[in-house]
Amino acid sequence: VGGRRREVTKDELARHSRPGDLWMALRGQVYNVTRYVEYHPGGADELMRAAGADGTELFDSVHRWVNYEGMLSKCLVGKYVGEQSLAK
Ligand code: HEM
Repeated sequence: VGGRRREVTKDELARHSRPGDLWMALRGQVYNVTRYVEYHPGGADELMRAAGADGTELFDSVHRWVNYEGMLSKCLVGKYVGEQSLAK
C-alpha cells in the first residue's frame, strides 16, 4: 500500500466478475474477494450475485452486521467511484 489511493470505476469493477477474478464494491470501497469466495459461509453462489458490482444492498439485506472491513482489509483494492467519464 502507500501512495495515492486507487480509484475504481464501474466499468473496471465489472471486468472482475468471475470466481477466479472477483471484485465487489461495498460502501464505497472495492475489494478483491477472489480468495474469500471459498470461505464465504453463505456459499460461492450467493457471493457471485454481487460479482463485479456494488454488493452493498444485497450484503445489507442479508447480514449488515458482518464486519467485512476487518475480514477483507487485506483485500482492499481502492475507492469505488462508480460511473465516471475519463474526460475532465
Ligand atoms: C453468510 C460474510 C457477501 C449472502 C455470511 C456470513 C459471513 C459472511 C461472515 C456468516 C454470517 C453468520 O453466520 O451470521 C460475507 C462477506 C461478504 C459477503 C465478507 C462480502 C465479501 C455476501 C453477499 C451476499 C451474501 C453479496 C448475497 C448476495 C450470504 C448468505 C449467507 C451469508 C445468504 C448465509 C446466511 C445464513 O445462513 O443465515 N456471509 N458475505 N453474502 N452470506 Fe455473506
